Amino acid sequence: MSADAERDQEMTTATTSDTLAAVGEVLGPTIAKGVIIRRPGVLRVADRLDADQRAVARMQALRDTYGPGPVRLNVPGRTLALVLDPDDVKRVLAGAPEPFAPASTEKRSALAHFQPQGVLASHGAAREDRRAFNEQVLESDLPVHHLAEPLMAKAGEEAGRLAEQMGRDRRLTWPAYVDAWWRMVRRVVLGDGARDDHAVTDLLADLRAAANFAFLRPTPTQTRRRFFRQLQGHLDRAEPDSLAGVVADVPTTELTRPEQQVPQWLFAYDAAAWASYRALALLASHPEEAERARDDLAGSTGPLAGDSELLRASMLESLRLWPTTPVVLRDTTAPTRWASGVLPAGASLVIFAPLFHRDRAALAAADGFDPGMWTGRTGGEPLGRITDDDWPLIPFSAGPAVCPGRNLVLLTASAMLATLLTEHDIRLERPGRLGPDQALPGTLNPFELRFAAHPRARPDAVA
Ligand code: HEM
Repeated sequence: MSADAERDQEMTTATTSDTLAAVGEVLGPTIAKGVIIRRPGVLRVADRLDADQRAVARMQALRDTYGPGPVRLNVPGRTLALVLDPDDVKRVLAGAPEPFAPASTEKRSALAHFQPQGVLASHGAAREDRRAFNEQVLESDLPVHHLAEPLMAKAGEEAGRLAEQMGRDRRLTWPAYVDAWWRMVRRVVLGDGARDDHAVTDLLADLRAAANFAFLRPTPTQTRRRFFRQLQGHLDRAEPDSLAGVVADVPTTELTRPEQQVPQWLFAYDAAAWASYRALALLASHPEEAERARDDLAGSTGPLAGDSELLRASMLESLRLWPTTPVVLRDTTAPTRWASGVLPAGASLVIFAPLFHRDRAALAAADGFDPGMWTGRTGGEPLGRITDDDWPLIPFSAGPAVCPGRNLVLLTASAMLATLLTEHDIRLERPGRLGPDQALPGTLNPFELRFAAHPRARPDAVA
């Protein structure tokens, strides 16, 4: 049979037992951990079982069996295919929104609970309009947002208060970190007037908990009404030096629905809390990199001094090792041809990021902490300086639907980490299994990380 004729055939389908293994070890645990908001109890179990390492091994076994794929899973009621080849990842992500739509059925059903008109749940003209709005407010193309100075100052202040508390407690645990983080996020997104409005983020957390169950759970409409009332109050204030202030200045159409875009920013900043806390764990357990970061920070001055390339790269490493969006979904809007056959319109393509992020055959330091990989310092062989084009390292997705908040979140996280590192010597107390001489685990539960903190002799905060 010619290659073309082969491609006209229906896509190769995995056997029932391989399908059950993929659902049981890859898709099931991802859903169980909570796609929209994490379930700490499940995460604790996943951490003990190192569930993500098992998932990567399962995906590699599928690739060994079925070749570069994609391979269809034998599930009833939904055409679903796993993407197994790096070039196919690029093709899928570059092909948004047609023929590979980011607004997949599953995402729309989950996001309907709190942002049915958010860009991630939108298609066609509405997506175009909302994407442009997001890019304009978040200044996606700029490494440094025009509000970088005041936004970093907010991050530095909240981190400074946290550092004071660490000085008293001589330790750092998740509840203290996440408390400071959300104060920072509310100030950055909604303005200083929202700093102590825990209710607005708690209401969103309740909606996200319902969203974890997608269509299986009705939207708590009263909670949604209260959340949007509270959110609108902050947007109406349009505080200068906050994203809410920028929102008020960016032109909109009747399609834009700005208040439906903002929940995604708050929601996505949650992922950044886990990622930055894990980045701190990486730095605390790799003292050489932490010292390098401190040296960099000591060598820079001015209001943007806390924006460190090395700290941004540490965030990227945290996200490579433990991606907060492990599964990127796209729905096909037309039939598409692949080496493994044809996939009809309306199918779901599943990209499991850890398969590519932890590929030892392609990445020399797949299971290590190597921030230099993102800065060009230690890229070397075989990949040299890694960019989104070289390899599907896709912590922020890629292509036309790439995360528009990427630069902003790296900037604010860097400011937060800079202050903590400058003010304290930080050692990872729990877990004890992270370090330069060990392969890093596939799963790392952020909620259980605990640090010992010792104030440094030169306590001049950065940022
Ligand atoms: C560590 C933090 C973050 C990570 C890892 C991350 C990652 C991602 C990923 C992987 C996607 C694509 C999802 C998909 O295709 O299904 C995405 C989309 C998006 N992110 Fe982020 N994100 C982060 C933080 C942020 C922040 C802080 C903002 C805003 C302030 C933001 C705004 C958005 C928006 C608006 C989209 C939808 C884009 C579209 O559909 O065109 N993200 N993000």
